[in-house]
Amino acid sequence: MKKVVMVCLGNICRSPLAEGILRDKASKAGVDLEIDSAGTAAYHEGELPDRRSIAVAKKNGLDITNQRARQFKEEDLVYYDVIFAMDQSNYNNICRLTDNEVLKSKVDLILNKSYPNENIAVPDPYYGGDNGFDEVYSILDKACDVIINELI
Ligand code: 4NP
Repeated sequence: MKKVVMVCLGNICRSPLAEGILRDKASKAGVDLEIDSAGTAAYHEGELPDRRSIAVAKKNGLDITNQRARQFKEEDLVYYDVIFAMDQSNYNNICRLTDNEVLKSKVDLILNKSYPNENIAVPDPYYGGDNGFDEVYSILDKACDVIINELI
């Protein structure tokens, strides 16, 4: 089974949504995937996703309240097959954990799935309003469609 981890900074806004969306699509498509999420920072370790992520997920029929934030660790680079970073800063923070080029090659920006080679970031909605979360949901939904379609 392929193992995928979604990574942002706090693991409370973007990557919990990415995890929930991909989990739902994998289940509906009958794709056997192990899916997790993590943050490069430990600020929110053990916390539920942000209430605005929980709300936008719920609005779209997903329950992500089983998730708890955790920090991305060097071992995750070994364990997971694919590591999707939400933005360039997350990408750099992950790659900084290893000198091993093979492990670094597992890391990609998630939006390179929907916009190949463009290195576009999923905007960080933490300091914005609720509509930032709708935008993030829609962006991640499209990227996860591409990820699942490649695995069907
Ligand atoms: P996330 O958003 O990386 O999408 O979970 C953030 C969450 C928390 C903070 C920044 C971004 N923070 O500074 O606490």
